[in-house]
Formats: sequence, C-alpha cells, structure tokens
Amino acid sequence: MTDPDFIRQTLKDLQAQGLRRRLLEVGSAAGPRVRIGRRTVLAFASNNYLGLANDPRVREAARHGIARWGWGAGASRLLAGHTEAHAALEAALADFKHAAAAIVFPTGYMTNLGLVSALVGRGDLVLSDRENHASLYDAIRLSGAGLVRYPHGSAATARDLLAKHRDAPGRRLLVTDTVFSMTGDLAPLAALAETCRDFGCMLVLDEAHATGVLGPTGAGLAEALGIREGITAGMGTLSKALGGIGGFAAASRDVCDLLVNRARSFIYTTALPAAACEAAREALRIARAEPDRRERLLAMAKSAREALQAKGFDMGGSASQIIPIIVGTPERALAMAAALMDKGIFCPAIRPPTVPPRTSRLRISLTCEHTEDDIARLVEALIEARDQAKHAPSKLGG
Ligand SMILES: Cc1ncc(COP(=O)(O)O)c(C=O)c1O
Repeated sequence: MTDPDFIRQTLKDLQAQGLRRRLLEVGSAAGPRVRIGRRTVLAFASNNYLGLANDPRVREAARHGIARWGWGAGASRLLAGHTEAHAALEAALADFKHAAAAIVFPTGYMTNLGLVSALVGRGDLVLSDRENHASLYDAIRLSGAGLVRYPHGSAATARDLLAKHRDAPGRRLLVTDTVFSMTGDLAPLAALAETCRDFGCMLVLDEAHATGVLGPTGAGLAEALGIREGITAGMGTLSKALGGIGGFAAASRDVCDLLVNRARSFIYTTALPAAACEAAREALRIARAEPDRRERLLAMAKSAREALQAKGFDMGGSASQIIPIIVGTPERALAMAAALMDKGIFCPAIRPPTVPPRTSRLRISLTCEHTEDDIARLVEALIEARDQAKHAPSKLGG
C-alpha cells in the first residue's frame, strides 16, 4: 500500500467507526458562551475553570508583558530564553505549591514528557493508573522504562504490584492524575502516597485539573488532603484553571535542577514567551486572592451532579468540575452532542482512543462563569438529547 492509500484508508476506517475527528472553529474568546459560525452557544467544553482566560487583568498583564519583553522568547531557556519573568513565575509557583522550586515548560504535555523521562529510563519501572492522561503514557514510552498499568483508582493493586516488583533492579516511579481528565474522579492519593513511601517508590502527580481548583489555596488534591511528604514532583498546567499556556513541575531544588539538565522537552525547545509568564503570574495571583471562584465552581459542580443523578445519567465516579455523561458507543455520543448543538449547547463527544472502548461520553466541563440557570438548561437539554439519540443518526463530525 502506498502512503496516500494508507492515509485515505485510515481516514475512511475512522469515519466508519464513528471515530473520525474534525476541528470546530470557535469565533470568540473563551467563556461560557462562544460563537460558532453565526450562532452563540452555551459551552461546556473548556478547561478555563476559573474564567481567567479572558479576565481583563490577565489580558492587561499579557499586554504589559509584550510591551516590556516583546513576543517571542527567541531562544531556549538554557540559551537566552530565560528571563526575569520566568524566574518570577517559577518562584510564585513554588510558593503556591509549597515546594522548594518549580520549573516552567512550554506546555503541560511537555512537562510530563520531561519530568518522567528525567526520573526514569531503561531498566526502571513505572506504575501508571490505567486512565492517566495520554501525555503520561507518551512520557513513559519516551523514557524507555518498563510500564505496568494498574486498574483505575486501585491503590490496592498498585501496592500488590510494588510488592511483586520489590526486588527488581532499577528505580520505581508511580504516576497518577489527581483529578482524572475524562472521568472527573479523584485519585486515592493518601493510599498511593503511603504505598510509595513503604516501597521507596517515587511519586509524580499530574495536578493539571486540580491546580487552581482543589485545596484550601487551590494548590491541588495533595494540598486538599494535607499530603506533603513523599511526593517527588507535582506537575500542573498554566493552561486550564490559570487560563493561559504552559506547564510546570514543582519539586525539590535537586529535582528541578535535574529537569534543567535532563528534561529534553525543556532543553531542546524555545522558552515560553516572557509575556505568557507575566500573564500566568497575574492569573495565579487572582486564583489565590479570589477563592470564591473555586468555591463557586465546586458548589455548582456538586449541584449539577445531583441534578444529573436525579435524572439517571451515568457520571461514573465524577467528584469534580469535570462531569462525564457515559453513553457507550461513539455513535450515541455523537448523536447526543449533535442534538445538544441543535439546542445551542456545545458539549463535546469524547470517544476512543481518548477513553476506553464502550465508554464514549459527553464531557461536561464547568467553569465558575456558568450560572445555575445554565446548568438547568443543560440538564433539560440532556434529557431531550438522550431521547432523541435513541433513534437519531450522528450529525456532528467532531
Ligand atoms: C491530566 C492532564 N495532564 C496534562 C495535560 C497537558 O497539559 P497542556 O494542555 O497544558 O499541555 C492535560 C491537558 O490536556 C491533562 O488533561
């Protein structure tokens, strides 16, 4: 088969399985209402949990940053791309995460690639929750370490596996999302941290969806549970609750120094623009100074889950601002997303390989800018969409 045949066939196969993805053009800034084509729709599709992506103060910080630093960083961090703005952001992030130091990467995805591959390599072993984010799986593959997946959320199995591999040569690392991106449930962190301590295993937490949302100061699930010991590194993103772009690892000075020396996704790429660092620092300041944003978000998520549960929707174990409506087949998920879009609601269908087979879903992602009325409208629309999708063919491509 020549390349073009293979490409066409792959796309055809994806289409036939209801798995082909398409880009949807949004014509306005991030917010609870966005323009798509000529319509303004109520959107539950963004990780802009604290509404900071379009906050006037964050915009102003970015504008000021550009005025001072220009736009592009022009070089990697280890050449001329490291500015006072990067250093100031890293100091603020370390303070936020109760860590000795923090290192910023251009994206959260690259943070995971760099972090895992700096900590382990060939001959080492990584334990990973089956539903961890794809970036962690790519990171493990890049590292060359052996991989053992444990069933989603099963701290008991993780303990058994560590016991089984107790005498294996090499280092051991356990990685877990803290708030899972497609299920919205929480990792059993206390049990995992204890297990890692007992077996001398490193522990990396992906707090991408918990950063700015959970814990007394919004630092994440580890903070919410009061867990400070035994965490090798906590990663977070600047791209979700903090409304910008970038990722970071917070850890000891030695771990951060190792990242600067070993993390290829830190070393061999251009630095995040200094203006993006200024915007992120302002977003972080607001997130810490205005706890009512995360309180409102979590209260709304709770009432949304209660309303959806009362109507019999399967939300898995969601306990956060991410609420999946698990419907099974890709076709059913697409049909429901299309029915919602007909009613002016944008709530994306998530299908394999992003989620396991037979668990295609709608992913509701709440932000503190949504209102109780928005939730009521969503619940009503979902009830109708569920009925319509029993018969309706799929109309939405992406
Ligand atoms: C759990 C998790 N980790 C890491 C990432 C990557 O973060 P970023 O989008 O900043 O690259 C994401 C985002 O998609 C995520 O959901």
